[in-house]
Amino acid sequence: GSHDPTSLRTPIVAVLGHVDHGKTSLLDKIRGSAVIEGEAGAITQHIGATAVPLDVVSSIAGDLVNPDDFDLPGLLFIDTPGHHSFTTLRSRGGALADIAILVVDVNDGFQPQTLEALDILKRSQTPFIVAANKIDTVPGWNANEDSPINATYEAQSDRVSSRLDESLYEIIGNLSDEDFSADLYWRVQNFQRNVGVVPVSAMTGEGVPDLLAVMMGLSQRYMKEEMEIDVQGPGVGTVLEVKEEKGFGTTIDIVLYDGTIKADDQIVVGGMNQPIVTDVRALLQPRPLAEIRTESRFEKVDEISAASGIKVAAPELADAMAGAPVRVVRNRELDEVVDEVEAELADIAVDTEEQGVVVKADTLGSLEAMADALGEAEVPIVRAEVGDVAPRDISVASTAEEPKERAILGFNVETLADAEQRAETEDVTVFTDEVIYQLIEEYEEYVDELER
Ligand code: GTP
Ligand code: MG
Repeated sequence: GSHDPTSLRTPIVAVLGHVDHGKTSLLDKIRGSAVIEGEAGAITQHIGATAVPLDVVSSIAGDLVNPDDFDLPGLLFIDTPGHHSFTTLRSRGGALADIAILVVDVNDGFQPQTLEALDILKRSQTPFIVAANKIDTVPGWNANEDSPINATYEAQSDRVSSRLDESLYEIIGNLSDEDFSADLYWRVQNFQRNVGVVPVSAMTGEGVPDLLAVMMGLSQRYMKEEMEIDVQGPGVGTVLEVKEEKGFGTTIDIVLYDGTIKADDQIVVGGMNQPIVTDVRALLQPRPLAEIRTESRFEKVDEISAASGIKVAAPELADAMAGAPVRVVRNRELDEVVDEVEAELADIAVDTEEQGVVVKADTLGSLEAMADALGEAEVPIVRAEVGDVAPRDISVASTAEEPKERAILGFNVETLADAEQRAETEDVTVFTDEVIYQLIEEYEEYVDELER
């Protein structure tokens, strides 16, 4: 490329999909292929993410990616575990991910979390493609390791390729039911208007070259301007997870999407009550695979630039929230940075009423998605917070005047043992689920029962 590479960051790619449809396997396959191509060292494992540089993309994708056609530095993939909500992937103004891969098992088709993922992609207007995974499981499949899709298609019998086509057209039909116009990716002219479906196997690597080529092309073509950042500027990111870590206390896993974070930076993090102002104690990355047996799972780094995933150890992080903003202060006025974090939090805040149900969720993003969905279902909310269902939530719910509002809706959270007991004695009903629309359906059924 002709541009200064330091001014373009790596696009952030979220890998979404229903449990067991093959998100992690797909990333494992990409890592594995890099090892085969002799590029093992070039792929870096981040906290919650995998960075694949352009030359590795190109060596895996072969003829499909000519590195001279691109000036973006590669792709940063974020894996989202099935049990965990990918609604964490939010940032100022919507989606944290620039682009997404929705993984759908060709045998299993659309499932609740597939629909949920689509809903969130729609709301956040994130461009995405569909990886129709596990094509190797079509009965009679003739596997061609790591082959581009057209070559392996040609190697299948008519019966096998028409079986695959049937499954693919079912997925295209499902997408159309959700108001997405979709087609097999090689027929798509405009990826902003149509969703491309890429047949792949995370097991055999078939179609993986195509997947990488499409992602790279899509990013370069439609997202280049958004990738222009001040790499050396103060870092900006989003909290993915708040975690206890032996020897480090409470840490936050963040995805940095702008600037740099340094091991001696002061940072401002969105907290339960107010922004947390603290000093970084350590920036931690997973150790390279070869060193995994050493005493610590992490190694310290001095600084890291966007786009990247990193664990930040710092004091006072106990109240940090998943989905909240993180900003480096460095040469800026502290007050100004605190104001920015406050404004971002206010932006996400859920409007509550005098009366209504209590809502708990694992992240700010999922709380926002819950509030949206409850708004559409015309269910008022009295209190909405990030965190597990705790005794004080039961107390709040127990003051409701209407029986249907003596309820707590928890998305991707646990009910603490003492809260469970309290709910029993206070006659409060707690609903929990890992799929938003199912949670709301359960609650609506309950209300129907009450009113019958
Ligand atoms: P969660 O993180 O739990 O949501 O699951 P996931 O989407 O990351 O799925 P994962 O990669 O863990 O794969 C689930 C199972 O499917 C594993 O047993 C994989 O070996 C298998 N699997 C994934 N991709 C393929 C594929 O392309 N072909 C075949 N035959 N099996 C696959
Ligand atoms: Mg997984």
